[in-house]
Amino acid sequence: MKVSLFIFALMLIGLMSCTREKVTPIDQQCNTTISFANDVMPIMQANCIGCHEQGNASGGYDLSSYAAISANATAVLGSMKGSGYQLMPQGGPALEDTTIQKIACWIQQGKLDN
Ligand code: HEC
Repeated sequence: MKVSLFIFALMLIGLMSCTREKVTPIDQQCNTTISFANDVMPIMQANCIGCHEQGNASGGYDLSSYAAISANATAVLGSMKGSGYQLMPQGGPALEDTTIQKIACWIQQGKLDN
C-alpha cells in the first residue's frame, strides 16, 4: 500500500514537470521573425475568425484581414492574455503561451505583412 502510494506520488511529480516544460515560451526575445501569412493568420483562422468576420463581427471586431488584425493588434493581444480586454477565445480556454508569444513578437517586429 505504502509502496504504491510512493509510486503514485512519483508519477504525479513527473507529470507536473512535463506540463511545466510545455508552457515555456519558445522565443521570449522574439529572435525568430514571425510571418503574418504562416503564423498569425492560421492562429486567427483557427481560434478567432469564426466569430470575428464580416457579417459576424462579434463585439464590433472583424479580424479576418491583415488590415483589420493590424489595426486592432493591441486588442487582439490583450484579449488573448485576458488583460485589459475580455479573455478570448470567448468561453476559453486561453491559447497556449507559445501561441500568444508569437502574436506578441509579430507586434514587436512591426506587424509585418509578410
Ligand atoms: C465563440 C465566439 C468567439 C471566438 C472564438 C472569439 N471571440 Fe472575440 N468576442 C466574441 C464576442 C461575442 C465578443 C463580444 C463580447 C461582449 O461584447 O460582451 C467578443 C469580443 C472580442 C473583443 C473585444 C473585447 C473587449 O473586452 O472589448 C476582442 C478584442 C476579441 N473578441 C478578440 C478575439 C480574438 C483575438 C479571438 C481569438 C483568439 C477571439 N476574439 C475569439 C466572440 C468570440
